[in-house]
Amino acid sequence: MTFVASIINLKGGVGKTTTTVALAETLACVYNQKVLIIDLDPQTNASIMLLGEERWIDLDRSDRTLACLFSDAITGRAPRFDYMATLQRNVSNVKGAEMVDLLPASLDMMDMQEVLAVRRFEPSQSSYLPAWQNPSPPPIPAFGMDNAAVLTRIAKDEQELVFDLPVGLLSRVVGPYLAAYDVVLIDCPPNLGTLPQNGLYLSHAYLIPTVPDHLSTYGIPQIVQRIHRFAERIGRHLPPLGLVLSKYQSASSVHRAKKVELEKWGDLPVFEGFLRQSNQTAAAGEFNPAKRTFLKKYGDSDGNGPSLMLIGNEFLNRARQFDASL
Ligand SMILES: Nc1ncnc2c1ncn2[C@@H]1O[C@H](COP(=O)(O)OP(=O)(O)OP(=O)(O)O)[C@@H](O)[C@H]1O
Ligand SMILES: [Mg+2]
Repeated sequence: MTFVASIINLKGGVGKTTTTVALAETLACVYNQKVLIIDLDPQTNASIMLLGEERWIDLDRSDRTLACLFSDAITGRAPRFDYMATLQRNVSNVKGAEMVDLLPASLDMMDMQEVLAVRRFEPSQSSYLPAWQNPSPPPIPAFGMDNAAVLTRIAKDEQELVFDLPVGLLSRVVGPYLAAYDVVLIDCPPNLGTLPQNGLYLSHAYLIPTVPDHLSTYGIPQIVQRIHRFAERIGRHLPPLGLVLSKYQSASSVHRAKKVELEKWGDLPVFEGFLRQSNQTAAAGEFNPAKRTFLKKYGDSDGNGPSLMLIGNEFLNRARQFDASL
């Protein structure tokens, strides 16, 4: 089975994209996992980071981004989204992380999110065959229920949801291809609009990166509550995998105190591994086609390499609650 996780936080700039890409590279390079990154953020940060601007512009101009999938739904035209042409293989510059692929985003998805949020879809729109009419429905997470029961449940929900609020579009179109991966990481924009809802709909669980300070952590209970309510609406159990602290500065008494406070919360597990504020990690945000080792890219004990290995291990341990084959 493929384990799918959304990387999400309503707060901007807390390290969602950095965590998504670094975790993907760690899982591929250190833990030999086949990983797909889905960039659902119209800011396109993960796409530019992994592809570079030139290659991304070329894909964007030729309709080979996820924008095409959403515009198919908006226009109701015959589907033009081509998964195989859009999928970018082997996008990591880390030696040994060859098994990282990417579905890139486009800036156009910003407007699409707004259109999708108010759009109602009619079942007669042929471009989006309901899942229950699809001969090979996307793999549906089992969540301890038997699959047939879940499928019926989802089909019922999609009847209400996909043609009401279109949150199942990504799952319907991309879901059937995900069996090729061990892990799928979805980089979400800093909101809970239709795009991240599409990501959550496809996910087994979600991960919250946060900077350990007051303002960055203030809204976390609200995110958990809102995602819980969303999960109830779609009839799913969608648990948080936990908090990953990022941009941690050990010299900051605020960061040190907040880390201890978060670890005492109890409801939401805090990953033991955390990402320190580091120049090397900031530099990793810039596209660089030159191949390097994992520790060269993320640093040794002075940087985030060993922490990432810890985070990768914890991630897989938590994911194994959903999928023992990982
Ligand atoms: N551990 C780190 N050390 C140094 N810089 C970091 C670290 N993590 C992230 N950054 C930098 O902080 C900025 C924000 O990070 P990132 O883009 O990952 O956040 P984000 O939560 O995805 O933001 P957005 O909400 O806009 O999508 C980037 O410039 C990134 O390079
Ligand atoms: Mg981001």
